[in-house]
Amino acid sequence: MTVSGPGYSPGLKGVVAGETSLAMIDGAQGRLQYRGYPVGELVEHGTYAQVAELLWTGEWPTKTDGAHLGCVPLSAAVVGTLRELPPDSNAMDALRTGLSTWGAEAGLTWPPTAEQARSVTAVAPSVLAAFARLRDGLEPVEPDPSLSLPAGFLFQLNGSPPDAAEARALEAYFIVGAEHGFNASTFTARVITSTHSDLASAVVGAIGALKGPWHGGAPSEVVNQLHEMGSPTEAEAWIRAALARGERLMGFGHRVYRAYDPRAAALRKEAEGLASVASWLQQAIAIEEIALKLLAEHKPDYPIKTNVEYYAAAVLQGVGLPPNLFPATFALARHAGWTAHALEQATANVLIRPDVRYVGPAERHLLPD
Ligand code: ACO
Repeated sequence: MTVSGPGYSPGLKGVVAGETSLAMIDGAQGRLQYRGYPVGELVEHGTYAQVAELLWTGEWPTKTDGAHLGCVPLSAAVVGTLRELPPDSNAMDALRTGLSTWGAEAGLTWPPTAEQARSVTAVAPSVLAAFARLRDGLEPVEPDPSLSLPAGFLFQLNGSPPDAAEARALEAYFIVGAEHGFNASTFTARVITSTHSDLASAVVGAIGALKGPWHGGAPSEVVNQLHEMGSPTEAEAWIRAALARGERLMGFGHRVYRAYDPRAAALRKEAEGLASVASWLQQAIAIEEIALKLLAEHKPDYPIKTNVEYYAAAVLQGVGLPPNLFPATFALARHAGWTAHALEQATANVLIRPDVRYVGPAERHLLPD
């Protein structure tokens, strides 16, 4: 029995579930803007701290305006929590758990504020870096607050500052990963905020949603697939066989973009500055060309173009991150967007509580034994 009710779209596909002034995504033309600024321009001229301030406050801060966001030290309770985790824990679990302890100590209250957003965004890289060192039997490194957030993350991971090209490439990755509309983790953060719960809970819930492989991105899969393909000369046969088996090429296709993902274009430029992946990148660029040609033959009526994950893989490898930290590093970047959405939700809050269509049994009754 189905009780009739309002229209239903599985997975909320095509449903407009809110309004935002944060990101404009034009999938047909391959355009992404944060508060009106094209993402490529932000990568070229801005920093993650400036982009985060833009998202939180709506204003573009100049570099001299104090738009600096450095990593902050962890409390004994957070480090203690991370020490208790099994060393083989998933890095997303560790980030979620560490931030949950941080939230319990911070005692944030509703409504969320820009100051709270800065705090949680600045502590998250310290949590992830500390976990990564502890699992390797190393002690956490105190943050250097003078470094930018992405550079400070690498500093805390490695115990030494990144070189200029690495710092710049990860900065670009953080900028393109900062915000992307009503994706599942952002929507989760907004649902939690809409109940008047606190910002730490919203971020922890968002990390849970991002952990799922359908959302958390595919850059480590890109690395694996390119490795399996071997050289560009072998790639064509590999791709043809994979497509014939109905498999998907990682780093290609997107629910929204029918054109080349503008984030992929921005990251490719940055990856070209990383000497450590120069030969890998050359191969990836050659294979991309073959893949795009074969995907067009495979689905002539459904444009499948390169997505952000293809060149994210190059950048993340190029700055020396192990693939098991890729999804959690994406989570660090997305903190700006999650928290900006929480602020936006709170300013005109309506409890997010959709209806559901009942498809269970019709009314029935228990019979006495
Ligand atoms: N390789 C091969 N075929 C593909 C690919 C791909 N990368 N992407 C879509 N297709 C095919 C599907 O097999 C399907 O074919 P069918 O109709 O014969 O079954 C058709 O195109 C439509 O596929 P859908 O899943 O309905 O299309 P959608 O646009 O919703 O897919 C998705 C988006 C899930 C990202 C898909 O392109 C994909 O799986 N890509 C590979 C994984 C990947 O790179 N994920 C990262 C995405 S970017 C991000 O999350 C930040």
